[in-house]
Amino acid sequence: MAKPKFQSPTGTHDILPQNQAYYDKIYKTVKDIVSFYDFGKIDTPILEDANLFIRSVGENTDIVEKEMFILKTKGKDYLALRPEGTAPIMRAYIENGLLSLPQPVRLWYFGPFFRYEKPQAGRFRQFNQFGIEIIGESDSIVDVQSVLIMYKVLQELGLNDLIVKINSIGDDKCRPIYRKDLIKNLRNNKDSLCADCQKRMKTNPLRVLDCKNEKCQQALLETPQSIDYLCEECKKHLKDTLEYLDELKIPYLLESKLVRGLDYYTRNVFEIESTRSGVVLAGGGRYDNLAKVLGGGNVSACGAAAGIERIINEMKETKNRPMLKDVPDIFFTQIGPLAKKKSLPILENLRKAGLKVGESFGKNGLKDQLGKASRLGVKAVIILGQKEAINDKILIRNMKTSKQVEVKQEEIVKELKKILKEK
Ligand code: HAM
Repeated sequence: MAKPKFQSPTGTHDILPQNQAYYDKIYKTVKDIVSFYDFGKIDTPILEDANLFIRSVGENTDIVEKEMFILKTKGKDYLALRPEGTAPIMRAYIENGLLSLPQPVRLWYFGPFFRYEKPQAGRFRQFNQFGIEIIGESDSIVDVQSVLIMYKVLQELGLNDLIVKINSIGDDKCRPIYRKDLIKNLRNNKDSLCADCQKRMKTNPLRVLDCKNEKCQQALLETPQSIDYLCEECKKHLKDTLEYLDELKIPYLLESKLVRGLDYYTRNVFEIESTRSGVVLAGGGRYDNLAKVLGGGNVSACGAAAGIERIINEMKETKNRPMLKDVPDIFFTQIGPLAKKKSLPILENLRKAGLKVGESFGKNGLKDQLGKASRLGVKAVIILGQKEAINDKILIRNMKTSKQVEVKQEEIVKELKKILKEK
């Protein structure tokens, strides 16, 4: 087939009807769980001031340095398609005075994000995330709730081979000491690091730790670990978190090289990985300094986000298919031009009565229409012929008993509900 003249931009995809059921299922699962935990939904604009991300995610992170879609408008605004949700939500929290509400404020979101990445499996330029943010609470119990909610959503979607990887990168008190020692160590191993890491060493040394390059991994075997530098408060915060996770029987691994690619994190950071595929499905952590960086004072917070397309891929590979469509209980057939004309208002009344009705009005032959009805396995078939259309009546066939009755059109709903109730 010839290449179509227009294609979706690199790294973006159409979500076709056959895939919508996955999105619906994930949305519903997230909504049920977060509603129980008293989260309110928030939608922030797709476009934000690019400086919001430069200040919060960090100037020397991959997201800001390489992956932001930047727009310069005619009005000279400097805008970015949002690459992530935490900074916009903190901006919204400050801007809308949510500090005056009882704390913590629990927010959740679901929607598209944009990163100018090199497209590959599980890495797109437009992708969807759902996320949660718990703002205004410093207790480690909310770190655990962030992990728990993400973990439960994935489990309820049928994904069971999961591991939580967790680390603490310390706070303003202990991280600078760690950073200094880390830089010293990296300098000593400079020649064994890849070119990117030699740069990162100066701009964002913690990011060197999660470089996937084999050469760097070897060179990093002996590097100092943030966990050995934690101050008493950070140490206790991590210890409490792990104890809660033990209590919940959530499997975890302490991962000393997990730093995550965003500058706003403090203390606990975590990811949830599929042990089956090795794909990271969700990530998050604490960000106690973000509010201050954005001019909102001292507000502790924690949260996480998961990649919807990665979850869908995992669901497909593990054969966790959602019901692809609402299957109708009833099928509407019509024969002849008058019946066809009268069928749309009748169908509309059935919809209003809450009945799920299938039809193939484009087909005129009864055989074709009944064929589709039997493939769907409906409980009742409605037949509107020329004679019935003239007399304002209709035929209803009970597909289980094969009994057929003629009823007045105003009695259709009653008769159908009777059939649907039968076991
Ligand atoms: P993140 O780790 O950058 O964290 O993204 C979260 C998840 O989004 C990833 O684990 C992955 O499943 C998915 N994801 C990221 N980039 C892509 C991509 N290019 N294509 C497909 N999926 C992708 C954050 O975004 C933080 N805001 C999470 C957070 C919330 N931290 C605290 N609160």
